[in-house]
Amino acid sequence: MALIGVFDSGVGGLSILDEALHQLPEHDYIYLADSANAPYGEKSSEWISARSLALCRHLVQEGCDAIVVACNTATAEAIAKIRTELSEIPIIGVEPGIKPAAMQTQNGIVGVLATEATLNSDKFNALLATLPAHCRIIKQAGAGLVPLIEAGSADDSETLELLATHLLPIQEAGADTLVLGCTHYPFLRQSIRMLLGESITLIDTSEAVVRQLKRQLEAKYPRKQDWANTDAGSVCFISSKDETKLLKMAEELMSTDLQAHRLSAALLSDLRS
Ligand code: DGL
Repeated sequence: MALIGVFDSGVGGLSILDEALHQLPEHDYIYLADSANAPYGEKSSEWISARSLALCRHLVQEGCDAIVVACNTATAEAIAKIRTELSEIPIIGVEPGIKPAAMQTQNGIVGVLATEATLNSDKFNALLATLPAHCRIIKQAGAGLVPLIEAGSADDSETLELLATHLLPIQEAGADTLVLGCTHYPFLRQSIRMLLGESITLIDTSEAVVRQLKRQLEAKYPRKQDWANTDAGSVCFISSKDETKLLKMAEELMSTDLQAHRLSAALLSDLRS
């Protein structure tokens, strides 16, 4: 079995962990939530980059064979640096699925809901530049949504109201496709459907990210054929704020039956640099 680290600013990366446990349940996982510092999306590039690298170093010290940076913001600001410094293991990032959106849109109008840092990043803007000219992209920062999700209020009326404000420009532009460009946002799927209806196509890249993780594990560790077809592995939830709350939120937010896995929880100890 591989030990896979999954890291996010908070509970958003649970949407990726959920998919990983569906596709690759046999592995062991460490889920690292930096909830004491969420949201990342309104912090400086330098801060996000240094903190993300420190947390990934910690996951390597814990023995991880691969890391999923399950945060669009951290990927946009830090993935290149993390890959350079931790070159011994596969590092998989996530980014807003604007390419699949451009392929699936019928009317050429695509909304992207992401954090401010992601939307302003060079990486995201380089990705935008590769899109076909017929695509019109409506960018919208989801300010304030992450703290509400972190507080366990994803389904509250306050969240719905804020979401409605953020989605209005996308709705008014007539987008037929919406990219969920932050790993926290799949937890708003129901509210988004309530506001935008059933016909809008929602793009969430978690399935593709986990397929990429699988390919990279197979490429890096080709001899470990015995990884498949074994029982469910363990999941250790580490939080920089409150590990008991993290475990409880994982049980509430994820569709995986976590009880099939060996579970543990820990508070993030001081980071060695
Ligand atoms: N889940 C993160 C992302 O995908 C988090 C954002 C934040 O902490 O602001 O961008």
